Amino acid sequence: MQEAWSKETFQKLQTKLSAEADRVKSSIPFIPMQGHYRDLMMPGGLHWWCNGFWPGMLWQMYSATGEEKYRRFAEEVDARLAPLLEEPEKMDHDVGFLFILSSLAEYKATGNETAKERAVRAADILAGRFNEKGDYIEAWNPGTIPGTDTTGMMIADCMMNLSLLYNVSEITGDAHYAEIATRHADTALRVLARQDGSAAHIGRMDPETGEFKEYPAGQGYDPESSWSRGQSWILYGFTNAYLHTGRKEYLEAAKRTANYCIAAVAAFDWLPVVDFRAPQDGRYDSTAGMAIASGLLELAGAVEGAGDLGQYDKDVYERAALKILMACDEKFDRWDPETDGIVSGGSLRYHDDRMAGASIIYGDYYLTEAVLKLNGKYLSVW
Ligand code: GLY
Repeated sequence: MQEAWSKETFQKLQTKLSAEADRVKSSIPFIPMQGHYRDLMMPGGLHWWCNGFWPGMLWQMYSATGEEKYRRFAEEVDARLAPLLEEPEKMDHDVGFLFILSSLAEYKATGNETAKERAVRAADILAGRFNEKGDYIEAWNPGTIPGTDTTGMMIADCMMNLSLLYNVSEITGDAHYAEIATRHADTALRVLARQDGSAAHIGRMDPETGEFKEYPAGQGYDPESSWSRGQSWILYGFTNAYLHTGRKEYLEAAKRTANYCIAAVAAFDWLPVVDFRAPQDGRYDSTAGMAIASGLLELAGAVEGAGDLGQYDKDVYERAALKILMACDEKFDRWDPETDGIVSGGSLRYHDDRMAGASIIYGDYYLTEAVLKLNGKYLSVW
């Protein structure tokens, strides 16, 4: 039944994304309004942190199907994003999400040297945010989030951005990128990952002394709670860090968070609520479910060869990923090829229900990854 679901969903994905690509082309989508995407709908314009997810989907589909239109549109979006590299002072830690899924994916899919150079330039920008005293990558520039003092903030999401540094190290042979990633991951392990497998969203460091100061509010209910998408970034991010470094403490952190997420999501009929430790009001975050599912599938591959009875853990992680994907498919997925967006039921953050229930581009991206992983057609980008 699960195998049949994986195959059938890959067929539906091809039909849906083929039609969507014909409409969206090299526009840069985020959330459909009245069933359709608009180009660059967020006020940040080209700088919006989510602008890599559409080219990421196109590169995944190009790699899985060989269809030229995906490549053409993806190359056009990548060229649109390239001018961001000329304004490093306007970038934040999410330069990783932006360029892993565009230029780095392009280089991996095609070997294009210009795309490689862009990925290296993006890695330089990310590495330039590293605070040597505190061993962390600074999340935001001062004044970029109105009303919030972002000084010294390091965040769970950045665990995903580290893959830019690890990959560029492997591509160029320059170890300093990977060293920065590993020093940041060690700090995230100490500051953000909790012993019970849950994780804080944001930690504040003192940029002068490098000491940990406090847990500011993030996108979850409160600093002690457990924002589901933040858990997915920790699960998937430490899995990636383990795969790049072989460090067992990262694998253990990924497994702790995976086990925590599986228990938490199973308690809600395999549907991810916005925050696992918060008053529940019936809101979900399907995007967290998709990122947790794809992260679990990545972890399943990682534990298989890691000893310690990993072959049994592999089955557990794969089964749990499928439970989440199938439960979310039944409740949230919209396969009508005439409209844009697949996975409804998304959320931007706990204390903000403006987009509650929306189909958000990163939910669709991680669904795409997960379905391609299940079908042996995934382009490894992280
Ligand atoms: N801050 C990135 C996210 O919303 O997951």
